[in-house]
Amino acid sequence: MNEIVHRPALVKAVLELMQPQEGETFVDFTLGGTGHFAAFLPHLGPEGTAIGFDRDPAAIARAERLQKNWPPCRVILRQARFSEAEDVLEELGVVGIDLALFDLGVSAFQVDDPTRGFSYLADGPLSMQMGSDKKKAMELVNGLGERELTQIISKLGEERYAKRIAKSIVRKREEAPINTTLQLVNAVDRAVPPKAKRHLNAIRARVFQSIRIVTNDEMDELHTGLLGAIRYLLLGGRMGVISWQSLEDRKAKHTFKLYGPKGEKEQEWVLLPATRKPVTADPEELEENRRARSAKLRVVTKVQREGA
Ligand SMILES: C[S@@+](CC[C@H](N)C(=O)[O-])C[C@H]1O[C@@H](n2cnc3c(N)ncnc32)[C@H](O)[C@@H]1O
Repeated sequence: MNEIVHRPALVKAVLELMQPQEGETFVDFTLGGTGHFAAFLPHLGPEGTAIGFDRDPAAIARAERLQKNWPPCRVILRQARFSEAEDVLEELGVVGIDLALFDLGVSAFQVDDPTRGFSYLADGPLSMQMGSDKKKAMELVNGLGERELTQIISKLGEERYAKRIAKSIVRKREEAPINTTLQLVNAVDRAVPPKAKRHLNAIRARVFQSIRIVTNDEMDELHTGLLGAIRYLLLGGRMGVISWQSLEDRKAKHTFKLYGPKGEKEQEWVLLPATRKPVTADPEELEENRRARSAKLRVVTKVQREGA
């Protein structure tokens, strides 16, 4: 296998909008290949604290190997899901954080490694596990009913041919279980009508995305993770979310709005957006990293509510 390279997206915009300062406490909830994490360290300085979480033990192990190259800073690395992060912060005695970053989805180390089963481009076991949780994609693909599969592919993949694809999956698994990525690709391809064949890769990607989201409980994780980070954010603290697909971006947008100046929540603070619209990659970045084309960044600052 060729060496896998993960290019962090929107790093310049993240730093410009989140403005990390010396001595601050930063939590990267999605350490991944450590691109963003390492970019924050020089700004935090030796008095700063940088905490890196990831549910994938391989990401933590990689970060531990890279640690010796980083500038001085208090660094803490832990394997944890978003839904466990608040407990870990409490255990660590962290009372509040100045900076919180979520760069959602999968890293190149996960998607480009065929043995992890995330990619429709290479054959591998249909696993799609981001972390060390037990649930595997193949169990869902072989175990769920046709109606549930249709709903998943339609809602979480936003795929218009969801019904036909679910039917094709059920028919194929009656012949033999679907245990590999290319067996799933085959079931998808058989369901796509000739007029849509030119969009085959996009359709495969949406189906894989939907199965991955369920396998890893991604939407519940995100919900819990965002609320936990917002609670932990100190007044003046900044929080950034990089999303890679519309469901994630919608979730970030709605959550931030809920706690915004006109939101329903009535706490003594509000979240103010740094930009009116989410930030996307500029042509220069896209030239170097095509994957960044789907990335959207939203940043908010937690401030005292006026009059509170
Ligand atoms: C896009 S990558 C992050 C890349 C990273 N910002 C970098 O610069 O290299 C997303 C990472 O988030 C992790 N992740 C996704 N969902 C998670 C969750 N619920 N809890 C913890 N980590 C999660 C994945 O395992 C993956 O390593």
